[in-house]
Amino acid sequence: MNSGGDCPGLNAVLRGAVRAALKLGWEVVGFRDGFEGMLPPGRFIMLDRHKTAGIMPLGGTILGTTNKGHFVAKIGVEGEKAVIPPEIIEEARGVLKGLRIEGLIIIGGDGSLTTAQQLHEAGIPTVGVPKSIDNDLAATATTFGFDSAVACVADALDRLHTTATSHKRVMVAEVMGRHAGWIALHGGLAGGADIILLPEIPFEYEKVAAAVRKRIEEGCVSTMIVVAEGAMPKDGKLSARATATGEHRLGGIGEHVAEEVGARTGQEARVCVLGHLQRGGPPTTLDRILGTRFGIHAVEMVAAGKYGQMVSYQNYLVTEVPIAEAVNQLRLVVPDCQMVRAARAVEVEFGD
Ligand code: F6P
Repeated sequence: MNSGGDCPGLNAVLRGAVRAALKLGWEVVGFRDGFEGMLPPGRFIMLDRHKTAGIMPLGGTILGTTNKGHFVAKIGVEGEKAVIPPEIIEEARGVLKGLRIEGLIIIGGDGSLTTAQQLHEAGIPTVGVPKSIDNDLAATATTFGFDSAVACVADALDRLHTTATSHKRVMVAEVMGRHAGWIALHGGLAGGADIILLPEIPFEYEKVAAAVRKRIEEGCVSTMIVVAEGAMPKDGKLSARATATGEHRLGGIGEHVAEEVGARTGQEARVCVLGHLQRGGPPTTLDRILGTRFGIHAVEMVAAGKYGQMVSYQNYLVTEVPIAEAVNQLRLVVPDCQMVRAARAVEVEFGD
């Protein structure tokens, strides 16, 4: 099963896991719409070779998914921990028992793997697979889905550069990343951004404006700013809005940056919010391969009874770590890490 936000490469994991499991003579059940599919009477499909044929290049997930419902273990924009009601776990246990499920492979990010950990602690045999475009899971060098999101940002910046230069504008691209700025950092570097604003490096509007002014003095006709949705000015707060249903959604920092930079420099500044484009579409080759390897390894873990563990990518090898190690802290950009220093070396400004 998969849970939480979708991400390119999910279908590659499903395909890899199903093929590896069929080789062992197992049957594979795919739960629909995340953990919700495990509630009575159980909503699932039998996953076989035919059901998973041709799905590798498809974005999204053939199983459907949700980041809401009865099994949510992290809530709100800050991701506070929540406890799954015991009666919900018992209902799921009944469905799993009825279907004679011997191992549950949960493909998810920080929130879904926190749920996986709670199910494991309740005695349900679980194995985790790290999924996230944000690449913010600890205990793995990378998650699948991240490379596809970065490719999307780089492609968008290539397009935005030509129009920004033609019109001599400042262009602000707002990208995903609520706590971790990996997409902004890697996407910005790959797409030749001049200024990158991250949640981990609080910025000052005046310093961002000064960097734009300096570029104008140097004869640069346009400036490309990439801002992560969770980036914040020093002493500022997260840009989020409440929806009609009372949920809080991140977003809006791109507008603020464009307004402030426009007002402080006299330049025309425009915003492009990439939003869910970053989560859709075909996975890159790297995510197809990573997803396939992760799916195969998850099956090997079930075969070896390595429950309560998560697939982890380390030093080009697929291995495993306790799920608890991955979910108790987020993997954030360290402000003076090699990537940030590389960006500074090519004159990227961080507004700090
Ligand atoms: O966690 C992945 C992520 O893509 C975040 O970067 C983003 O804030 C969030 O999902 C958006 O989720 P939703 O589609 O539910 O609004």
